[in-house]
Amino acid sequence: MRLTETRILMTGATGGIGRATARKLLEQGASLLMVGRSDAVLERLAAECRTAGVPPSRVKWAAADINRATDRTRLVAEAERLDCNVVLHNAGLPSFGRLQDVAPEDLSGVIQTNLLAPMALTQALLPRLLTLPAAQIVFVGSVLGSIGLPGFSVYGASKFGLHGFAQALRRELADSAVRVQYIGPRNTRTGFNGKGVRAYNRATGTAEDTPEQVALAIARLIREEADERLLGFPEKLAARINGLVPAWLDGSFRRHRRALESPVADLTAART
Ligand SMILES: NC(=O)c1ccc[n+]([C@@H]2O[C@H](COP(=O)([O-])OP(=O)(O)OC[C@H]3O[C@@H](n4cnc5c(N)ncnc54)[C@H](OP(=O)(O)O)[C@@H]3O)[C@@H](O)[C@H]2O)c1
Repeated sequence: MRLTETRILMTGATGGIGRATARKLLEQGASLLMVGRSDAVLERLAAECRTAGVPPSRVKWAAADINRATDRTRLVAEAERLDCNVVLHNAGLPSFGRLQDVAPEDLSGVIQTNLLAPMALTQALLPRLLTLPAAQIVFVGSVLGSIGLPGFSVYGASKFGLHGFAQALRRELADSAVRVQYIGPRNTRTGFNGKGVRAYNRATGTAEDTPEQVALAIARLIREEADERLLGFPEKLAARINGLVPAWLDGSFRRHRRALESPVADLTAART
């Protein structure tokens, strides 16, 4: 869809990738309904966009916790009022560390935010999207939704789930005018990755993208209506091999395991 024709409900608009993507989408002519949990942060963000010259009619926002059913109902009503034809599921929570070190409440928290909430919001929005001449549902997953890495069992489970949900829904809606899309960024420089992840990335030589690179890729994905894209090399290749013959990669993660055991990783500070 041409971005000038899009009216996008975007979750996670207040985060690192979200802000960069909001800027890029607005620059290319989209209208946005930006979602985060803080009124004050969203209001500031919208003011910044207006100061940068975006007409107020193209920048709307709604504070909502996507894990709350009442908030999702409010978002659905707002999306209908603003005639949104694209949903960009970008909100997410991190989880990093050996499974035995992950806080038990993070298991449900991460699966709830990264998987169940976007599923529930999609289900609630879908009846109206199906009445439109064209609509797009875009999921921001991760390369860790295609390849399991030591230290990311919980986060990876949430993104593998999201990836599977997007694929099945795309096939289910293939005869409709609703396109289902999935993008899997690799490690990106935002506040999402705490000290522990950054140390692990250094120890394993993991490359990093900027939020602006991810934003460009998201804008292109929407414009080109591509089904699915993963970002970065060698991540794309590794994901492809992992999909075909996962056993070939099983012996490749000694450095990653060692990095998890290193005191430098300071796993308890993973979110700081
Ligand atoms: N950074 C990376 O290395 C990386 C790599 C691959 C994929 N990703 C994915 O990219 C997406 C964005 O990541 P990011 O790096 O931009 O993270 P971020 O800077 O931490 O931003 C996270 C966003 O999610 C929102 N959010 C979290 N829980 C929410 C909830 N319950 N209800 C509503 N909003 C909620 C946050 O809103 P508040 O302002 O209200 O907290 C914030 O806008 C995520 O889905 C992540 O999994 C990130």
